[in-house]
Amino acid sequence: MSKDLKQKIYIAGHRGMVGSAIVRNLEAKGFNNFVTRTHGELDLTNQAKVAAFFEQEKPDQVYLAAAKVGGIHANNTYPAEFIYNNLMVQSNVIHHAFLAGVKRLLFLGSSCIYPQLANQPMREEVLLTGKLEPTNEPYAIAKIAGIKMCESYNRQYGASHGIDYRSVMPTNLYGPGDNYHPENSHVIPALIRRFHEAKMSNAPEVVIWGTGTPRREFLYVDDMAAASIFVMDLDKKIYDQYTEPMQSHINVGFGSDVTIAELAKAVGDAVGYQGKIGFDRSKLDGSPRKWMDSGRLNQLGWAAKVSLQQGLVLAYSDFVRTQ
Ligand SMILES: NC(=O)c1ccc[n+]([C@@H]2O[C@H](COP(=O)([O-])OP(=O)(O)OC[C@H]3O[C@@H](n4cnc5c(N)ncnc54)[C@H](OP(=O)(O)O)[C@@H]3O)[C@@H](O)[C@H]2O)c1
Repeated sequence: MSKDLKQKIYIAGHRGMVGSAIVRNLEAKGFNNFVTRTHGELDLTNQAKVAAFFEQEKPDQVYLAAAKVGGIHANNTYPAEFIYNNLMVQSNVIHHAFLAGVKRLLFLGSSCIYPQLANQPMREEVLLTGKLEPTNEPYAIAKIAGIKMCESYNRQYGASHGIDYRSVMPTNLYGPGDNYHPENSHVIPALIRRFHEAKMSNAPEVVIWGTGTPRREFLYVDDMAAASIFVMDLDKKIYDQYTEPMQSHINVGFGSDVTIAELAKAVGDAVGYQGKIGFDRSKLDGSPRKWMDSGRLNQLGWAAKVSLQQGLVLAYSDFVRTQ
């Protein structure tokens, strides 16, 4: 099934950072029978339109990379939009994919599904063992519902309808197609913009909020796309050996983390910024460490390829190209 290059593949969110990387990676493998719709052409929160779309297209596989995504500021400001949009998009896509006979679906979640105080690195098993971080709780609850929806459909219809719906939980991602908005972006695109602007204006120093000591993990988006295709195409027997029916999601991380100070230095180097890097220690740091345990995926035979240094150079050239 997975080697059939003619199979019809729907990538929901194909213009987003991850969706576009999945299309790029599938194309590089020789797949070319894609179904796509922009947000303008098909609002995935609209159940009747999603039902009609699946009935018409009947794809073989679905990558569910459409979601309402944002940083802390956006999650804090628009909690209703985050929970409503994500629950609607994923419920409509998963349910109508099922009704249209889609056998394989991959749902993209996020590392924020894990409890705020989870042991590090975070294993898949810590899901639902503690309280979530309050700022992105609505988003995380939607993502957890997405995993549980895939599992529930597998448990009820897996044997009778031959469906196999899987979930992957990426760590922080960056790369081409990222959102460089000054307020609503994640840490890497925000730092790329700040270092770029400091370089262009010959600013002597870039000041980073906090102590620079918290540790975070980052994965280049094409590695994420490759991991998504790898998990989608894994033989069912092997996937089942490494997962449980009610514990079926797979972490996708880089494998190691860096301090924010190390990250800032690496971004400065990728941008070619010559000035100093300072830290405003009066600002809050956030969690000391957020790091995924990717052991399950590594045992299955996949590991990240793009180093942080290589990925930042590629991300910066994409940023410059799109300015
Ligand atoms: N970026 C990260 O660091 C990160 C980390 C962990 C997990 N993830 C997960 O990876 C997935 C993809 O994220 P991303 O970074 O690629 O986000 P993104 O760049 O914002 O892409 C999301 C795409 O979904 C589309 N979309 C959103 N709502 C829609 C709707 N109602 N109908 C149709 N299309 C809709 C967006 O279209 P518009 O832009 O036109 O709305 C956009 O093209 C998400 O599930 C996210 O949770 C991302």
